[in-house]
Amino acid sequence: MKSKEAVLLSALAIPQLASALDNGVGLKPHMGWSSWNVAQCNAASAKYALATADKFASLGLKDLGYEYINIDDCWSTKSRDSAGRLVPDPAKWPNGVKAVTDRIHSMGLKFGLYGCAGDKTCAGYPGSEGHEKSDVAQLVSWGVDFWKYDNCYTPCRQNPRPQTCTSPSGSTKTWYAPMRDAILGAQNTRKLHFNLCNWGRDEVWTWGATYGHSWRMSVDNWGDWASVERIGSSAAGIHQYSSPGGFNDLDMLYLGSPKLNVNQERLHFGLWAITKSPLVLGLDLDKISNSTLTIIRNKGLIDINQDSVGKAATTFRPPGAPSPVGGKIYPYWAGPLSDGVVIGLCAGTSAGTYSVNFKDVPGLGDSRSYLWKEMHTGQTGNGSSVTTA
Ligand code: GAL
Repeated sequence: MKSKEAVLLSALAIPQLASALDNGVGLKPHMGWSSWNVAQCNAASAKYALATADKFASLGLKDLGYEYINIDDCWSTKSRDSAGRLVPDPAKWPNGVKAVTDRIHSMGLKFGLYGCAGDKTCAGYPGSEGHEKSDVAQLVSWGVDFWKYDNCYTPCRQNPRPQTCTSPSGSTKTWYAPMRDAILGAQNTRKLHFNLCNWGRDEVWTWGATYGHSWRMSVDNWGDWASVERIGSSAAGIHQYSSPGGFNDLDMLYLGSPKLNVNQERLHFGLWAITKSPLVLGLDLDKISNSTLTIIRNKGLIDINQDSVGKAATTFRPPGAPSPVGGKIYPYWAGPLSDGVVIGLCAGTSAGTYSVNFKDVPGLGDSRSYLWKEMHTGQTGNGSSVTTA
């Protein structure tokens, strides 16, 4: 729900973290696709990357702003070469990575890869610990635009290091700094988007903007309703940390998951959009249903996500509304936009009819009449309140 009328947006006090990677990248939540949810290791190939780029064009996704084709874990061979370089798996990248980035760039799109702050990636491929500078040099030489950086096999008091360390030595911050510095060092040749994937450890939202452009604030979205509830509900409390240049990353969109029905998919997409999460499709575009396609092509919601103000919506409690329940999606959300306010009315627990008086909405707060537009149906209206259909 989007109300269209000039409102006082600047009244909201939002802390700003100075961005160390202030390189003009990530001023809006990034939009694109990632291979991981599609077929995990099997999708980390040139074939998937190029087929997805073609789909971005043929399905009209590129024109809507979907831009990054991101290959996740398992794209390299299991060991580095004798010079210590990462080696794209020849079975998955028969012509190397550069041939793929060149083609993707020629289509007006961008290309991303995945690495890890530990000595191995989560799936056991070479990590970048101790190789930060040379790995960034390789990414730059291939023309890579985006680097997701995970935190498996990181320094740990357990020996040997487990995939997921439960008694870490040091904080995630210290493991992410060398890569941030390597990216900064290469800045004159290529501006990379640095995506921190530390699953919300060490309250990454409080420092993420001084390290990268976006940061995962939770463990994975497993494609079920419990994940949408867990991640979506916890976005409310950290909304103030999202700003142009640094955004909470709620993880890939798991639309197309057999575990979500169409209403749950709508809520999933809408909530990620209004909380200014990156919109990264985690699905096989060859198999997408018409109903999912309609949701991911919702231009109104995409415009809200990409609005230049870049401030995330959070929950508000209208008079008489129940208290929020931890881990459940609260029905009432609002956030500032450059031309109004976005209001999210979420039937998070059960279907229902929700009403809101605009005077109770942060950023509106008076009894004037407002124009509104419902973003899924396109229905418009005006008045001092709105009720969902
Ligand atoms: C996880 C990460 C996932 C995916 C996977 C690859 O740690 O949260 O998004 O990247 O590793 O192994």
